[in-house]
Amino acid sequence: MKTIDELLAAGVSGKRVFVRADLNVPLDGTTITDDGRIRAVAPTVKALSEAGAKVVVASHLGRPKGAPDPAFSLAPAAARLGEILGSGVAFATDTVGQSAQDTVAGLADGQVAVLENLRFNPGETSKDDAERGAFAGQLAALADIYVGDGFGAVHRKHASVYDLPARLPHYAGYLIATEVGVLKRLTDDVRRPYVVVLGGAKVSDKLGVIDNLLKKADRILIGGGMAYTFLAAKGHEVGISLLQEDQKGTCLQYLAEAEKRGVEFVLPVDVLVASEFPDLKTKAPAHPDVVSSDAIPADKEGLDIGPKTRELYAAKLADAGTVFWNGPMGVFEHPDYAGGTKAVAQGLLDSPGFTVVGGGDSAAAVRTLGFDENAFGHISTGGGASLEYLEGKTLPGLAALED
Ligand code: 3PG
Repeated sequence: MKTIDELLAAGVSGKRVFVRADLNVPLDGTTITDDGRIRAVAPTVKALSEAGAKVVVASHLGRPKGAPDPAFSLAPAAARLGEILGSGVAFATDTVGQSAQDTVAGLADGQVAVLENLRFNPGETSKDDAERGAFAGQLAALADIYVGDGFGAVHRKHASVYDLPARLPHYAGYLIATEVGVLKRLTDDVRRPYVVVLGGAKVSDKLGVIDNLLKKADRILIGGGMAYTFLAAKGHEVGISLLQEDQKGTCLQYLAEAEKRGVEFVLPVDVLVASEFPDLKTKAPAHPDVVSSDAIPADKEGLDIGPKTRELYAAKLADAGTVFWNGPMGVFEHPDYAGGTKAVAQGLLDSPGFTVVGGGDSAAAVRTLGFDENAFGHISTGGGASLEYLEGKTLPGLAALED
C-alpha cells in the first residue's frame, strides 16, 4: 500500500486529488453531535492542501435511497471541515453533475471542495458492477489521484471505495495508515492478557468477530443488548429485554468453545431493569431497579449492566495488556443507564494495557460522556470496519489500495 507521504514526496502541486473520507457523523437536524470523524481526516486534507493540491473530498452520510435527500446533506459536515482547516471549503451541491464539475474546475491550488453525499447517486452502493463502475468513471473524471482515507467505509464494496481507486493512481491517507497499524497490533502483536469487551444491541452483528476472537483473546466480557441473548441461551428469564431467539444456539456454541479453549467468557451478573425504554429526548428520570441477571422479572427490560458487573468488569480489565472494546454496555444516551458504559471506559483508562475503542457508538459514547479521547490508546473511526478486520475478512477498500 503506497502512503500519502510517498505522494507528497513526489509532489502534488496543481494536481486534483480525490480524498474518499468518512464524514458520516451523527446529526441532530443539521447540528453535528460528534465531529470525531471529521477531525480524524483533517490531517490528510490539510497536508494535501498545504502541498498545493486541489483537494476534492467526498463521503457518504447515512443511508439515503440513491437520490438527493436534504436530510442527508453533507453541507453541515463540509462547513465543519472548513472550520477545522481554518480555511473554509467550497461545496458542490451534487456528486458528479454540473455543480461538482464547476466547483472542481474553479479550485485554485491548495483549495478544498467537498462533494454532496455520494449515496445520492444509486451507482455508489449498487450491487451491479457496471453501474458502480459507471459512477466510478464519472468520479474519476474529477481527479488525477485518489487518496483513500475513509476508514469507516473500507468494508463496503462501493464505487468510491472499491472501483474508483482502480481507475486512478491511489494512496492510503494518514487515517487509514494509523487505523490499519493499530488493528495489526491487535492481530499480530498482542500483549496479554488480551481482553475484549463487546456490547451493542445485536448479537448477530458480532458473531463473526466473536468466532475469531475466541481464538485470540484471553477474556471476553459481554454487555449491552446482546448480553440478553446469551443469558436466555443459558436458560435465564430475560423479560422483555432485547432477544434474538434464533441466535441462542450459536451463543451456546460460543460458550462451549470458550470453555474448551480456556477463554474466560464473562456475562453480566446483575442488570438495571425498567418496565419501559427511557425517553431519550426529555431524559426524564427512569427509576430503574437492580436485579440479578438470572432473575429478570418477566415484565421488565434490561437496559444497562448493574453495579456488581461494573466492578467485575473493572477487575477483569485491571491487568490487561491489550483491550479492544466495541459497543456500549447499556442505553448510555440516558443518564440513568450510562453508568455501565462509563465504568467500562474508566476500566480501559485504568488498565495498564494498550486500549482500543472500536468506532461507532462506543467512540461517540466516550466523547459524549466526557472522557478525554487522548487518554485511550486509540479510538477507531470505524465500527463495522474494525470488526470485519478483526474477523479476518478482506476489506474491499483496503484491498483496492494495494498494488
Ligand atoms: C459507519 O458509520 O459505520 C460507516 O460510515 C459506514 O456506514 P454504513 O454502515 O452506512 O455503510
